[in-house]
Amino acid sequence: MRALSITACLGLALTGAAPALAQEADVAKPPPVNWSFSGPFGTFDRAALQRGWQVYNEVCSGCHSMKYMSYRNLAGIGLTPAQIKAVAASKTVPGAPDDSGQPTTRPALPSDRFVSPFPNPEAAKAALGAVPPDQSLLELARPDGANYIHALVGLGYVDPPKGVKVPDGFYYNKYFPVKLIKMPPPLSDGSVTYADGTKATVEQEARDVVTFLTYVANPDMEQRKHLGIRVVGFLVLLTGVTYMVKKRIWSDVHGHHDDGHHGDGQTHA
Ligand code: HEC
Repeated sequence: MRALSITACLGLALTGAAPALAQEADVAKPPPVNWSFSGPFGTFDRAALQRGWQVYNEVCSGCHSMKYMSYRNLAGIGLTPAQIKAVAASKTVPGAPDDSGQPTTRPALPSDRFVSPFPNPEAAKAALGAVPPDQSLLELARPDGANYIHALVGLGYVDPPKGVKVPDGFYYNKYFPVKLIKMPPPLSDGSVTYADGTKATVEQEARDVVTFLTYVANPDMEQRKHLGIRVVGFLVLLTGVTYMVKKRIWSDVHGHHDDGHHGDGQTHA
């Protein structure tokens, strides 16, 4: 009985693994980007974060929600309180019911969560054919998230290979695991106009929006790295001090040796 179920499991695992492997070999690996935030000393490039917020705000937020972010969290990418107030005020959120109980709307406040483009996933699916995932934690939700999203939106929309038919409502993207995606190419050259004069190519926009998405998913990354460096520094110091103390204590013992006491401890007893 036990042996049978093990064999069955193995069989299932093997048959399951074969197509997965075949597919894996087929999917293009996202090229690694030299991110400002990678490595133990990496920090977020503030200018890239603000450009990335612009790309999210003007492009991605038309379809993707980011429901764990509040407007005041934009202080983390360097927006001033006045800028945050203005951003929030440009959005509309549901307000308190009026005197006759009718729903109202009001401009958002810095404390409000980011407004979602659709009231519910069903509405998003009806409009787009698939539900765009919330972008609050998306960078963490995909393996190799930053490089993957950069490749997906910045490099992946290419002509399909000969013989591949792209059905209506789908787009070919060589970095999407199943290649056929329901997201139309979101970026084009000049999708946004950067205030700092940076040229808005598709690849630049992708790089910037991924920097922003990585910050949103890891807002305390810089503090964590900073603490990590201090902990390592402390451990190095502690190791040095421990070594010196050890040498000091054992120097007495070695001293005995020099005096000619070559006993194994029993001599002292
Ligand atoms: C016109 C609507 C639309 C816009 C604009 C849009 N997306 Fe999407 N996005 C979608 C839809 C729909 C899906 C789900 C696709 C699917 O499952 O086939 C999706 C999925 C994704 C995924 C998940 C892919 C995966 O591995 O599952 C990522 C990442 C993504 N979008 C990033 C972005 C970024 C970054 C932007 C802004 C530059 C953006 N999207 C703008 C509609 C949109």
